[in-house]
Amino acid sequence: MARSVPSGWNVSEGPTRGLVITLDGPAGSGKTTTAKAVAKRLGFRHLDSGALYRALTFALLQKGVPEEEWEGLGSEQLSELKIEVDADGDGVNIHFDGVLLTMELRSPEVTGSVSAVAGLPAVRAWLLGVQRSVGAHGNLVADGRDMGTVVFPDADVKFFLVAGLEERARRRLLQDTGREPTAGELQEEARRIEQRDQADRSRSHAPLRRPEGAVEVDTTGLSFEDQVALILRRVKDLTRLQGEV
Ligand code: CDP
Repeated sequence: MARSVPSGWNVSEGPTRGLVITLDGPAGSGKTTTAKAVAKRLGFRHLDSGALYRALTFALLQKGVPEEEWEGLGSEQLSELKIEVDADGDGVNIHFDGVLLTMELRSPEVTGSVSAVAGLPAVRAWLLGVQRSVGAHGNLVADGRDMGTVVFPDADVKFFLVAGLEERARRRLLQDTGREPTAGELQEEARRIEQRDQADRSRSHAPLRRPEGAVEVDTTGLSFEDQVALILRRVKDLTRLQGEV
């Protein structure tokens, strides 16, 4: 059965589901923007799993649920937060109380609390089903911290993106403010990123780590275009997708 791929690519007979490609890595390594561009190029769906954790965090903050109560939340209370995930097209839309969430997911308040929410076993269990149903038919590029290890352990191609701490802080600030940061801003952002990395690496459930068999890509000296091209080339080399990159 032919799979849906961009023009110029041919796919030979293969498993019934389409390809699943995962990109994991720490904050600011370029996962989400790269995954989005790779998915677009392949005509695949993009799953930004971090946005799901951010959405739950946003909902908890909006509803004023005190942080001391987060640990005791179960699946019923999480469902009552009214987060809805719709994955009909190439992307994934997240609604809260019927309103589409976009920029609010990246507020400093959400970023400051998201690792605590992501460390809760009930949250991870609740989102596991959501993420797997988004990727059930394959033709998916998923990015996050545990895509290749926990959510899609059978993914066809796995990547682990890394970059130097200062470069990651610079990218994050450039993305958020649209200008080159000062040395003081850089130092402060690097400290915040390091804290979040530490929390994501040391938690007991689905910690951030390099998935077995993942291709490690150091993006420190790479331009965005080179990063996307490199990933597409590796996908082509490692699968039966054929054609011009
Ligand atoms: O883009 P950035 O690196 O700032 O983070 P993100 O991908 O939006 O993820 C935000 C946070 O969600 C991370 O710091 C993790 O705590 C959590 N997360 C996770 O635990 N597992 C994932 N698969 C994705 C994100």
